[in-house]
Amino acid sequence: MTHDFTGKAMAVTGSSGIGLGAALYLARSGARVFLAGIDTVMNDKAAALAAGEGLAVSLHHVDVADEASVRGWADQIAAETDTLHGLVNAAGQQSFGTAETTRPAEWDQAIAVNLRSCYLTSHCLYPMLKAAGGAAVVHVSSVQGHNNQDNVLAYAVAKGGVHALTRAMAVDCAKDAIRVNSISPGSIRTPLLEFSASQLAVGGKSIDDMIGKFGASHPIGRVGTTEETGSLIAYLCSDAAGFITGADLRIDGGLTAQLCI
Ligand SMILES: NC(=O)c1ccc[n+]([C@@H]2O[C@H](COP(=O)([O-])OP(=O)(O)OC[C@H]3O[C@@H](n4cnc5c(N)ncnc54)[C@H](O)[C@@H]3O)[C@@H](O)[C@H]2O)c1
Repeated sequence: MTHDFTGKAMAVTGSSGIGLGAALYLARSGARVFLAGIDTVMNDKAAALAAGEGLAVSLHHVDVADEASVRGWADQIAAETDTLHGLVNAAGQQSFGTAETTRPAEWDQAIAVNLRSCYLTSHCLYPMLKAAGGAAVVHVSSVQGHNNQDNVLAYAVAKGGVHALTRAMAVDCAKDAIRVNSISPGSIRTPLLEFSASQLAVGGKSIDDMIGKFGASHPIGRVGTTEETGSLIAYLCSDAAGFITGADLRIDGGLTAQLCI
């Protein structure tokens, strides 16, 4: 399925992985994309990739956990457009730990980057989303917001919070013709997944071995791609999803459908 975003401006956070995949998908479908990332190397790579395809994607150095930085991004966007038809919150960070081992600063960081950021960008970009007279917000949550593995306390809490934020925003924002949904990916091959694989690789296993193992635990038998998440995000931002708001769509190869008994 393809969607036409010609003449529409979209804001996306996360300049690698799922965020970059969504930005490229939307830009290939005609959108003007304002892409925010904190990592200058990733920002430069994303800019080069988009330029190579002649896509309308501009890169912005933004810390989504910092209010002044997000307000600065909003000002940069407002200098170029009065209206935004979409906001995709894909910036995020994995964190590991239990209630016993997670330090308060690590908890605060995980919540700030994975949850508070979704509120903060929505808050700062709201006037432009409202002015579009029909806009969509997609927050990238995780299967870990539904069920979780061990040792991911703060991350799981943040992702569960994203589901609550999605519902609450959907109810409040409908009056302004803004739909709000989230997606919950299973394992998707991105730098974040490769980092998780490197943390879990033991006994001479490579990152590819670990990613193959992650894939085998999904009923579909593989991990997902950023083209697949980009396609779902574009669908949720499109008019084809005009009656969908407050939903969380799992894109997890059946991972959370199975009972591990
Ligand atoms: N890859 C997966 O398997 C998977 C599964 C479920 C959920 N997710 C979620 O998808 C989202 C995207 O992750 P990804 O897999 O694409 O990983 P990724 O590491 O490629 O992308 C995350 C991006 O967020 C950026 N970022 C981190 N902190 C930031 C900050 N303070 N300000 C601005 N940018 C910041 C990183 O630099 C990076 O570019 C995350 O929210 C993650 O939790 C990923």
